[in-house]
Amino acid sequence: MATTDKLIGIIHDKILLSDFISKKVKLTRKGSDYTGLCPFHKEKTPSFTVSDSKGFFHCFGCSAHGDIISFVMQLDSLDFMDALEFLAKEIGINFSDYRSFSKEKNKDFKEIKGVIESSKDYFVDCLNSNDGSSIREYLKKRNISVKAIEYFGLGIATDRSNGLLNFLKSKNFSKENIIKSNLIREGSNNSLYDFFRNRLIFPIHDEKGNTIAFGGRTLNNVEPKYINSSDSDLFKKRKTLYNLHRAKPFIRKHKIPLILVEGYVDVIAMYHAGLYGTVAPLGTALSEEHLNLMWKNYNEPIICMDGDLAGYKSALRTLSVAFPILKAGKSLQFVFLPEGQDPDNLISMGKKEYLIELINNPMSLFDFFWKSSTENILLDTPERRAGFKKSIESKISNINDKIVRNEYRNSFYSYFNKFILNKKNYKNNSFSNPIEGDLDQYNINRINKNLNFINREKNLVHSIINNPSILNSLDEEFSILPLQNSELDSIRLAIIRVYEKNGFISQDNIENLKKDVNFSKLYDKYFTSISWANKSFIPPFVKKNEDIETIIKIWRETASIQHSWFKKNKQKSNG
Ligand code: GTP
Ligand code: MN
Repeated sequence: MATTDKLIGIIHDKILLSDFISKKVKLTRKGSDYTGLCPFHKEKTPSFTVSDSKGFFHCFGCSAHGDIISFVMQLDSLDFMDALEFLAKEIGINFSDYRSFSKEKNKDFKEIKGVIESSKDYFVDCLNSNDGSSIREYLKKRNISVKAIEYFGLGIATDRSNGLLNFLKSKNFSKENIIKSNLIREGSNNSLYDFFRNRLIFPIHDEKGNTIAFGGRTLNNVEPKYINSSDSDLFKKRKTLYNLHRAKPFIRKHKIPLILVEGYVDVIAMYHAGLYGTVAPLGTALSEEHLNLMWKNYNEPIICMDGDLAGYKSALRTLSVAFPILKAGKSLQFVFLPEGQDPDNLISMGKKEYLIELINNPMSLFDFFWKSSTENILLDTPERRAGFKKSIESKISNINDKIVRNEYRNSFYSYFNKFILNKKNYKNNSFSNPIEGDLDQYNINRINKNLNFINREKNLVHSIINNPSILNSLDEEFSILPLQNSELDSIRLAIIRVYEKNGFISQDNIENLKKDVNFSKLYDKYFTSISWANKSFIPPFVKKNEDIETIIKIWRETASIQHSWFKKNKQKSNG
């Protein structure tokens, strides 16, 4: 049987690269080559070139590079054999006649893996050598700890153009496989040079933990800020998530959500905050494959977007990628960070707890769909309402799973009817877009609303225990605060009794209360074993806090939610 190598030859002979690519990308002739807008990254001016004489395409913007087979692999995210089969069909060849995988090729594959593993060690050694001293300072300044550097296997590529090349040669790897690793490039007149130069190197792994590629962040502000190894047989950007092989066992063990952030540095910042179950895409938009990969490991991963327009738009794009492939039980949750922030900033500013609070209170996929569809919408005439319904129906019809699709319709109509009943919305379109409105306030409301009631009741009491002086302003309100949980209520009453007796309450009084056997038993039960891993979180107003004004304000907001919840809950249990 003929081997795939033969088929590759036939494909190269029979298909003219520019012909094939021009079906997908608008190409303009420039001399003997062609240029166009790169299909692998977003751009406004063309930096994508196709050369028929060399049989290669190359993008000067994002470094995408390869022959017709890699083009198909990258564009349609197919693996090597699937791409061959697709191209065989294109030229009317029976693929199965050529399917045998040559022994040679298997051996090459192994060697390429070896090249990549060795390169990783080389990059790490460079960071630890004299060459790396200023970069180690830089990492320190960016709050990346030595532990994190080791954990993530960070390294550097120096500014020498043949450092890695000489190292790999000394290891006796074949020239061909060194080139196939994508770490060494072939320039004009057959000269070879290192692909990554002057960059901080992030090793990228497959699910099993094999190093398959690298990401490189510029160390001297050269554009682009990040480059990645090009796609290859081993590495497909659209099927790979940074840090997945470490996040996966962690979230399984601790039964916590898988979180997706935008970049490498954010994953590392999250690690510093103890959030080891975090992954990131590799500079590409989230693909269908990425979603399936996450769903394999967690039913409702949290997508944590930067607080800028790009983050919001990218969440909208994710929505439309997710719709067709939603399945029963599989969904997404969204978190939008405050204006201008990413997880790295927030953690570096010491706002780790605030970040965790936001992550613990995500927006459901449906809610995000609803909010984004109702922004700036006017529903004051039957025609407008009908138009709105039609457009939503058409979006929902993209959901392929019938059960999920029906549930989306039901939820939509139930929201719609409430929305219409609310005169304010009905009349003047004031259902504001959370992203453009006050995101902080939006998040606070969300947190308060979503907190399950026991946490809210705990927080209302705990806040007083930690900041007894606020009782001077809140005594009346605290004494009429309705609590469903009778044990928490007895803690509340004990505090009120002391306050009424003294006319004030001090930290010492609280400490005395804790010496009481009954009080301390309850106190320990509710307030001493709280950690993020247990999925409860202590908001700032609950902790000892200097900013009395703010705690009182938030305490009142939370108490008011508690009152309406309690009233509703009582009606429910009475009716
Ligand atoms: P720092 O500036 O080091 O904090 O990185 P960042 O994570 O804040 O970067 P940014 O938010 O700009 O980008 C987030 C992610 O998008 C990065 O981790 C990269 O994966 C990707 N990215 C950013 N810029 C580029 C680029 O120029 N080219 C490519 N291919 N990817 C990029
Ligand atoms: Mn950043």
